[in-house]
Amino acid sequence: MRNKFIIFCFTLLSISCSVDPEIIPEVKIEGIKEIIPDGWPTPFYNFSNNPISIERFTLGKTLFYEPMLSSNNTISCGSCHQQFVAFSNAGHDLSHGINGLLGKRNSPALQNLNWNTSFMHDGGILNLEVQPLGPIANPIEQNENIANVVAKLNASTKYKALCKSAYGDEIINSQRILKSLAQFMGTMYSYNSKYDAVKKGTETFTTNEQNGYNVFVAKCASCHKEPLFTNYDFINNGIGITVLNDSGRAHITHLPTDLYKFKTPSLRNIEKSGPYMHDGRFSTLEKCLDHYASVIPNAPTLDPSLIGGLGLTAQSKIDIIAFLKTLTDPKFLTDKRFSE
Ligand code: HEC
Ligand code: HEC
Repeated sequence: MRNKFIIFCFTLLSISCSVDPEIIPEVKIEGIKEIIPDGWPTPFYNFSNNPISIERFTLGKTLFYEPMLSSNNTISCGSCHQQFVAFSNAGHDLSHGINGLLGKRNSPALQNLNWNTSFMHDGGILNLEVQPLGPIANPIEQNENIANVVAKLNASTKYKALCKSAYGDEIINSQRILKSLAQFMGTMYSYNSKYDAVKKGTETFTTNEQNGYNVFVAKCASCHKEPLFTNYDFINNGIGITVLNDSGRAHITHLPTDLYKFKTPSLRNIEKSGPYMHDGRFSTLEKCLDHYASVIPNAPTLDPSLIGGLGLTAQSKIDIIAFLKTLTDPKFLTDKRFSE
């Protein structure tokens, strides 16, 4: 009898302690912290003014997957940035936003963002903490203003509770939204690919991969610089203009010398993050390699190293692709801490 009473009390206690199941993340999130993998440069963004906590990360993650960030409550960041394809948009050359509206650019992979010196294909945004204001306000993405987002979230018991555990009170403001989103996006580290294991000496490349790596270092790494596989520079890689007539970097600087230059993308997880280039024009890696192997015609802002193409043989194209696939990081692509 006494035992039964004790069990009864325990049950009562655990019921009263349990929080709204909606609020508890399904996966226990742990180990979220700032990381600088061995041999990597100092990141451009760090968390010194945005101290990481699991609760703030959880708020940021919930916001990332929150359709209320759009005017008709249908489009979240996660609609265009899907984890299994390194947070790019599977199968979409150009992005699809609110009411099915078509954007002008391809949704890029999101990973290792703390090293970015700028954001977007044209570098039009300079800070990770400011970046979400772009898609939220963009009329063909989420088409919402931040004041409405703040009002909607403040009317939600779920967000009040998340905010209280993250910041000590229930008041949601734009700064908290942006800082917590930066914690979620800024801790999306991808550094556990086969390439990384080879660098650490715990795995070895196959012959194809090694040959591909050798050609890559000779012909590609000046722009796709290790270990992040980008130099963060704006470059015209000679793919040529289309009817979209996207001026690239010149859209921001208005300099004719920046016409058709785009930010060099990282090639980490590149096997997964197609279609490729700023407008998703190439559906496969083979097509990307065919471009670099082709006779690239000279143009006023074309990078001089690409004039005439890179002269790749059929075998080196195959080898380079084998090497590029070693940049896939399954741990990152399936890490439950970042899943919806
Ligand atoms: C409708 C699809 C869509 C939605 C919704 C969307 N994005 Fe994007 N995202 C894109 C596209 C397209 C780009 C490239 C834009 C450009 O170059 O102008 C981009 C670029 C980015 C970048 C820059 C990455 C880099 O390396 O430069 C980040 C970070 C990002 N988005 C985060 C977010 C966040 C956070 C949200 C939600 C607040 C969001 N996105 C909502 C499509 C989308
Ligand atoms: C002179 C600089 C430069 C060189 C050399 C270079 N690239 Fe690129 N690469 C770029 C730029 C810039 C882009 C982005 C173009 C765009 O968005 O339209 C790009 C895009 C790509 C993409 C598509 C990435 C994505 O996420 O859409 C792949 C794949 C790629 N390069 C592979 C290679 C390979 C392999 C080599 C060597 C054979 C190489 N690149 C050589 C500058 C370069």
